[in-house]
Amino acid sequence: MHFKDDKNVLEAMDYIRQENEKYFSRTNKKKFASIITYGCQMNVNDSEKLWGMLEYMGYSATEDRDKADLIIYNTCCVREHAEERVYGNIGALASLKHKKPELIIGICGCMMQQDGMADDMIKRFPFVDLIFGTHNLYCFPKLLLKAMESSSSVVEIFDDDGPIVENMPISRAKGVSAWVTIMYGCNNFCSYCIVPYVRGREKSRRHNDILAEIKDIAQSGYKEITLLGQNVNSYGKDLDENYLFSDLLFDIEKIDGIERVRFMTSHPKDLSDELIEAMASCKKVCEHLHLPVQSGSNNILKRMNRNYTKEQYLELIAKVRRAIPDIAISTDIIVGFPGETEDDFNETLDLIETVQFDSAFTFMYSPRKGTLAANMKEQIDLDVKKRRLNRLIELQNRITGQKNSVFKDKIVEVLVEGTSKNDPDYLSGRTRTNKLVNFRGSNELIGKLTQVKITNPKCWTLEGKAIN
Ligand code: SAH
Ligand code: SF4
Ligand code: F3S
Repeated sequence: MHFKDDKNVLEAMDYIRQENEKYFSRTNKKKFASIITYGCQMNVNDSEKLWGMLEYMGYSATEDRDKADLIIYNTCCVREHAEERVYGNIGALASLKHKKPELIIGICGCMMQQDGMADDMIKRFPFVDLIFGTHNLYCFPKLLLKAMESSSSVVEIFDDDGPIVENMPISRAKGVSAWVTIMYGCNNFCSYCIVPYVRGREKSRRHNDILAEIKDIAQSGYKEITLLGQNVNSYGKDLDENYLFSDLLFDIEKIDGIERVRFMTSHPKDLSDELIEAMASCKKVCEHLHLPVQSGSNNILKRMNRNYTKEQYLELIAKVRRAIPDIAISTDIIVGFPGETEDDFNETLDLIETVQFDSAFTFMYSPRKGTLAANMKEQIDLDVKKRRLNRLIELQNRITGQKNSVFKDKIVEVLVEGTSKNDPDYLSGRTRTNKLVNFRGSNELIGKLTQVKITNPKCWTLEGKAIN
């Protein structure tokens, strides 16, 4: 395990590790850390990298904040709600820090990359010891050491997305499924979205680095990988390798041990015919596509800067279904974008009826400072947004329920993740089409692919019984 670029980071990691070993031989106590992660899978994967470094330095995980020597918040700012939760939770740590001054509290992630945010946080919560951003995640050990040795807060945010640092230690969530970030940043600047401002421009990892990581993942026993990027369809376009996303899918197909491949997110404007063909011919690529549409109104799509029309989106869906007839399609939808009329909203409902998505993530538009849409006049009242959101959810629930009811008495292939969170008598896993299945079966099936007969399809999950 080694970083290519930063000697200080390595030295800091080794130093903290030695200090923690000395502490253990003195007290027979381990050091504990806790990471609280908000936001998308990209942040989840970043937290796995933080865990990789923490474990190397000798920290063990705890969920008990009273026991922790180090607490880190990995934040998200995609909507206001995500930020409010962070403010609330960090505020609540004041008394803990008062009782235990040697506790180190750190904040990182997208929210910290916003202009002026880090300074604001320190003013609001002066007891916070350490703040860093998304571009300097790999510097964490160096900053942690500084924070341990300093009586004032340590703040370091890079404005630019420097080089991609490979070979970071990583501690992945245990189980059958692993995340692999294949590219960072976004170039699209959808007018509502903060992500390009906090994650920088698109930057693809070299394909050899990605393939080496996936081989390693396969050897560790994971069966499924999900390739991550804000817009995976444009993977490779920023490199000189003449190697695009479809090439990556074909090469992953050859890696032994990996049974299923997923990816997100796809932008409709970049979903090429080559990619659809690759999805259809790669057996490991699952029959599921997450293709955010955001709105069914051309007027709103234009104001959102999405670069496609409703008609183009529908044509794309038709093409995908012609190539992969059983594919499940999910989407993201925003209601209450500035200027969205009742007619615009009805067009979104119409589109949902037409496409018959398997599922949808639905959001009320949330103005983000610094984005174009936040300055648009015609912001929509909260109660109108809420009403539209409820109508949307009601419609989508009906469609999801209908789509699931078709599974009654059908046999599906499930990759078994573990026992069900809600009922330990049930096992839980997903179909290739990403539907959650809770079923009765032997614990020996955990980690394996198995056939399940669906006995009771519900709105959100399918219930069944293992048949082998
Ligand atoms: N890169 C991905 C994910 C972006 S964030 C993509 O392009 O799809 C995930 C979802 O959050 C978006 O698809 C969008 O539906 C929603 N979202 C982003 N900014 C938002 C905002 N300001 N208000 C409400 N929803 C937002
Ligand atoms: Fe945001 Fe649009 Fe980029 Fe997705 S594609 S991250 S919605 S700017
Ligand atoms: Fe949030 Fe950053 Fe992801 S803003 S949605 S955690 S890229």
